[in-house]
Amino acid sequence: MILAAGEGTRMKSETAKVLHRVAGRPMVEHVLIAARQAGADPSVVVVGVQGSQVQARLEKFDEGGTVLFAEQKKRLGTGDAVMAARAALSRFRGDVLILCGDVPALPASALKTLVKEHRKSGAALTVLTAILDDPQGYGRIVRDGEGRIAAIVEHKDATTEQRRIAEINTGTYCADWKKLLAVLEEIRPNNAQGEYYLTDAVKLLIEKGARASAVVHGDHREAMGVNGRRHLALVGRVMREQVLGRLMDRGVTIIDPDSTFIDATVTVGRDTTIYPGVTLEGETRIGKHCVVHGGTRLRSVRVGNHTVVLDGTIAVDSKIGAKCQVGPYCHLRPGTALGDECKVGNFVETKKCSLGKGAKASHLSYLGDAVIGRGVNIGAGTITCNYDGVNKHQTILEDGVFIGSDTQLVAPVTVGRGAYVGAGSTVTENVPNDALAITRVSQRNIEGWAERKRQRMAREKKRRAKAAK
Ligand code: UD1
Ligand code: CA
Repeated sequence: MILAAGEGTRMKSETAKVLHRVAGRPMVEHVLIAARQAGADPSVVVVGVQGSQVQARLEKFDEGGTVLFAEQKKRLGTGDAVMAARAALSRFRGDVLILCGDVPALPASALKTLVKEHRKSGAALTVLTAILDDPQGYGRIVRDGEGRIAAIVEHKDATTEQRRIAEINTGTYCADWKKLLAVLEEIRPNNAQGEYYLTDAVKLLIEKGARASAVVHGDHREAMGVNGRRHLALVGRVMREQVLGRLMDRGVTIIDPDSTFIDATVTVGRDTTIYPGVTLEGETRIGKHCVVHGGTRLRSVRVGNHTVVLDGTIAVDSKIGAKCQVGPYCHLRPGTALGDECKVGNFVETKKCSLGKGAKASHLSYLGDAVIGRGVNIGAGTITCNYDGVNKHQTILEDGVFIGSDTQLVAPVTVGRGAYVGAGSTVTENVPNDALAITRVSQRNIEGWAERKRQRMAREKKRRAKAAK
């Protein structure tokens, strides 16, 4: 069960808190994935504020497991949120893992440990705790003389002495569903926040003679709950470390983890090296033996094996083949598809553009709405004039075409297989296979022109100097 109905007032946001992203996913999605990996099925997500958006985001997880949604009508507290899930779990028997949608960094392994310890101890409810240097804002774990958990006291309700307790509630529990249900009804909102606290279940269970237990999670940074934007940044750092750690374990070299930003949704192949200042986002898939240099941002880009991406490249929704060289300072806009062994370099912008195997556009070009064949060579400064102010038109460069530097290709236009276009041409008509198209004005040399100009200027200067006297 994932509690995700809260508004997150402290975020000061128009977006529901659990939909704020860390490492490329909304927080609540990380929580659902961890729950699933820990073996929880079905999952019930308690939604409220922007419930339909939360639901829309998580519905895809209904494959390979069941995701149910329960609506909490009013935000009356975490205890009430669990009550809201009763109908969805009316026939459920067994242990429920209860997680907070705003605690995204806890890995599945921590949840597995919690379930295992819960079953071993035979407690009615087991809470996952952590020891924090700064426990400010969290519920504190109050233990009795024998070190057993006795209650959870919210920060706002805690005495000065209790506030000194460093052990906090991570908001993560494993509970016998039937036993928990039996005490849920007894929770009363007589506390500083006037809320139904799920945490009161601990005390109530103990009063009923049931047992509560606590498991300490060793990595306190992973236990962090996000209430404001400062937490969001801190949790982001923790989750990035997790992602980078996993990649390094799988054989990716990351030169400087502190300045590398890779979403949890990204995959990178073995023996690939990532330089500092790289950002990889969305569904980006990088192959093996690649090198991605600094200042590059790739969003949902597929990169084949043995490709080098040089510094300062930005690419979105594109494909880059194997053994390519891209950059420095390239902009591959959506719909770019580079075949294998392509070279797209220095200040080239592409959009809805495919390049066949071995095609090259090495310098200063704009290639939009273009189908470019195998082995095509595009000279520096080539521009596809794809837009007439109303519509976009296509440029087709067939296999083996050679485009001289500073050419404008006024679309729609096709340059046939093996044809050449002379440098500085403005191509407005189709070019037949194997032809040479050349449209520039032929050159005229005027002998002595420069010398005569210099003499004229010298005379003029003398005259002015005289007039000034
Ligand atoms: C809660 C715990 C606190 C713990 C902390 C861990 C309670 C009373 N307190 O405090 O002991 O240390 O989490 O991060 O449980 N939610 C609902 N409906 C509601 C209220 C909250 O679904 O009516 C959801 C929120 O969306 C959120 C989660 O429950 O995902 C926790 O709510 P939040 O208000 O952030 O509780 P905390 O004050 O952080
Ligand atoms: Ca919280």
